Amino acid sequence: MERKPKLGFIGIGTVGNALALKLSRAGYPVVAVSSLRHTSARNLAAQIKVCRAFENNQDVVNVADLIFITTPDNAIEPVVSRLSFSRGKSVVHCSGADSTRSLITAREAGALVGTIHPLQTFASTEQALANLPGSTFALEAEEPLLGTLKEITAALEGYWIELSAEDKVSYHAAAVIACNYLVTLVKLATDLWQTFGVPPATATRALLPLIKGTVHNIETVGLPDCLTGPIARGDTNTITKHLEALESEPSLLSAYRKLGLATLPIAIAKGRINPPQAEEVKSLLEGKKLVSEEKGLMLTMLKSKIHRARVTDANVDYEGSVSIDPVLLEAANIFPFEQVHVLDVNNGARFTTYAIAGTRGEICLNGAAARLVNRGDIVIILTYCQVSENDAHQHAPKLVYVDQNNAITHTRTMTSVEAMAAH
Ligand SMILES: NC(=O)c1ccc[n+]([C@@H]2O[C@H](COP(=O)([O-])OP(=O)(O)OC[C@H]3O[C@@H](n4cnc5c(N)ncnc54)[C@H](OP(=O)(O)O)[C@@H]3O)[C@@H](O)[C@H]2O)c1
Repeated sequence: MERKPKLGFIGIGTVGNALALKLSRAGYPVVAVSSLRHTSARNLAAQIKVCRAFENNQDVVNVADLIFITTPDNAIEPVVSRLSFSRGKSVVHCSGADSTRSLITAREAGALVGTIHPLQTFASTEQALANLPGSTFALEAEEPLLGTLKEITAALEGYWIELSAEDKVSYHAAAVIACNYLVTLVKLATDLWQTFGVPPATATRALLPLIKGTVHNIETVGLPDCLTGPIARGDTNTITKHLEALESEPSLLSAYRKLGLATLPIAIAKGRINPPQAEEVKSLLEGKKLVSEEKGLMLTMLKSKIHRARVTDANVDYEGSVSIDPVLLEAANIFPFEQVHVLDVNNGARFTTYAIAGTRGEICLNGAAARLVNRGDIVIILTYCQVSENDAHQHAPKLVYVDQNNAITHTRTMTSVEAMAAH
């Protein structure tokens, strides 16, 4: 549409006021408005040069090319079904959950129908005008109305996405979760502050910088890395204390558990907690005992072994540790800084230190341990881990065998059941 369409608005509340004012300032002729209370329409018309306030909604349809129905959602269909439309007219509403189906009578009369939903929260007209730029608008319409609505979103300094009628409800449910339920979360948090005697206004003032910081992190760091807190860290002790503290507040406890379970996949995606920690957190949040408690007796089992490696150096002046060829570390599933036991086959010394990544072929004892070995000695390097008695028979340590240059000759994994069968 080359010429800008003449716009009309029916239902002059927050969104009607904001869109009419913003589009009129962007050069769109807003020619007609009406509302349940005529004063609402008159107040808006008084602010727009070419605009007339009508008592009858039909007059808006008669005068305008494109009519915005900005009533509450419930009123859209009843209002539109009482109006006469004809070919050449276009009508849209701004509901997020309703599709163009609520404009069916206008379509049957030959009008083009569409929806344009601003994905934004409007608590007042002034705040709406301030927040509109940068907002995304969900559009559902056929051409040429779709093109007109895209131009309108550009005039509103927004972005647009196209949605089908079927997708609108899920789209709107997502908006409710992100927007309205954030309000609910703040209410839950301020309620909790009242249990230790801080009034809601003080609690809100205190929590707001935290909320703004979180929103900023979502914007700048993004999901999932913006997640912080005990679930992201796998801090089961802290989560246990929270659950105990909330025992006297059953509805808060239930919300804490459900939201925590929804947070867990984000923590896993962030990668700071490993699968066993995630399982512990899940058990806690589901109200089960800790996985480790449920599993009963814990056994210390061999986790990995580097068999008969040759000591390439011993450096008494370096910080205590053993530098190990990174290929061997990976093959034996040993993490840098993980505790290792070193057994010197030549002199019988057995001691504990931790691993660091060395250079290729390197096995170098550092610090005090350097006094317990000689260059050229053959050593066995072991790690152990905690395994529940129930899982012990399935546990399979990683065994890495090396030649005299510390190059891997072969590796093996073997469960205790397989080891028993082999003998
Ligand atoms: N607010 C938001 O954050 C937001 C965001 C995105 C989309 N939306 C959508 O925008 C639309 C309008 O929402 P809103 O927040 O602006 O609602 P609102 O502030 O309640 O305004 C709607 C206005 O429509 C008028 N009205 C009610 N029944 C009517 C009828 N039968 N005929 C004519 N006018 C009638 C009322 O004005 P008077 O009583 O003063 O005449 C009312 O104030 C809804 O579809 C909503 O889903 C809202």
